[in-house]
Amino acid sequence: METFTIEGGRPLSGSLRIHGAKNAALPILAASVLADGQFHIYDVPHLKDIDVMLQILTNLGATVSHVDGCVSLETTSVSVSQVPEDLMGQMRSSIFLMGPLLARLGEVTITLPGGCAIGERRIDLHLAGLTALGAKIEEAEGYITFRAKKLRGTNIFLSFPSVGATENIMMAAVLAKGTTRICNAAHEPEIVDLQNFLNAMGAKIRGAGTDTIEIDGVERLRSVSYRVIPDRIVAGTHLLAVGTTQGHIQLSNTIPEHLTAVIQIAKSCGVEIKNRHDIMEIKSTMRPRAIDRIITSPFPGFPTDLQAQLMVFLSLARGTSVVKETVFDGRFKHVNELARMGATIHVDMGSAIIRGIGKLTGACVEATDLRAGAALVIAGLAAEGKTQVEQIHHIDRGYERLESQLTQLGAEMARLSI
Ligand code: EPZ
Repeated sequence: METFTIEGGRPLSGSLRIHGAKNAALPILAASVLADGQFHIYDVPHLKDIDVMLQILTNLGATVSHVDGCVSLETTSVSVSQVPEDLMGQMRSSIFLMGPLLARLGEVTITLPGGCAIGERRIDLHLAGLTALGAKIEEAEGYITFRAKKLRGTNIFLSFPSVGATENIMMAAVLAKGTTRICNAAHEPEIVDLQNFLNAMGAKIRGAGTDTIEIDGVERLRSVSYRVIPDRIVAGTHLLAVGTTQGHIQLSNTIPEHLTAVIQIAKSCGVEIKNRHDIMEIKSTMRPRAIDRIITSPFPGFPTDLQAQLMVFLSLARGTSVVKETVFDGRFKHVNELARMGATIHVDMGSAIIRGIGKLTGACVEATDLRAGAALVIAGLAAEGKTQVEQIHHIDRGYERLESQLTQLGAEMARLSI
């Protein structure tokens, strides 16, 4: 088992390039099965979730390599319609294969996906979208098979702007007959990146980033080369880390427009942030001010994927803050771990009441999911004394060697195998 050990109390300083976005790369890699040929996808981070996606694509018949951030894919031999059960169980994002495989092969078989322990991860919106496009569902012995000779464009309303469901429907609709309109679509930047990738392949999609996305089905698509957008959640994690440790850093390869809500909140708490092209300069010289109330919501709202990191930041603020989580029902598992470090946080009816204190104390804590783990690392960086973070495989799903990133910014941190 691997753990992080952190000697806290040192402000962060230095420069770091942000790697490509996991949540853009995953659907883009899945979409590669929509065409035959050689793909080169650049700035794909070396993460566990990416490794699982590449293993799945190999099992489906593709030839893959991942060197220095570039994924090369040859998809002409993709012919298998069943996603391996053991790989489905490792990562929820394996669900992204449903739409593209159904569109390419006319059939796809999956088991219910695995993933983070952050509440109920239903897939009803994915299933409803694919059946609306004409797929027939069969369920037997824990497997779900979709079949459709030819998908047909239609209007689909999402009762919740689900990121994954929006992406799955987009990927299924690009080869359908006719036009598909997704209403109440998710607005996340990763959706826009997927639209740009598919349109580079010859698809006809418009409206990503707004409530309504329209897809005109085409006969075939072609393989392309493409670079994924920077990871806004990794950038936001480092931004909040500096606000928590009172430091001064420069992040490159950032898109500030993808972090508007986060930047506004951090500035209101006293963090200085300057943007110049893709460079974000972040400086904090004081304990943060508290926030009366912050609610997580779909983009462009404050992202649920930075809620845990914000909670650590506010646990050291002057005053009491309230954070309400509205996207996932199980995303406060980090509260108990933070309490072991002295944080005073009370959870009631989906809201966390955070009474800011002067210091956190190092402890042995456990990562319960990807972003909660990153939050505990930030807490360790700010705490007095030594912190050990266990179960760091969760963190490796979304941060490329986080210990290297943070030691580059002056942290005293190491990965230990015990
Ligand atoms: C994506 O997950 C991200 N993952 C998540 O990031 C992110 O937290 C989430 O979007 C919200 O922004 C990837 O892109 C790989 P959703 P996804 O479908 O698509 C409910 C991280 O840390 N829902 O928008 O699974 C669901 O239960 C990860 O990088 C249904 O009810 O999120 C949840 O409450 C964690 N039925 C809400 O919608 C469905 O069919 C948001 O889910 C689908 C979702």
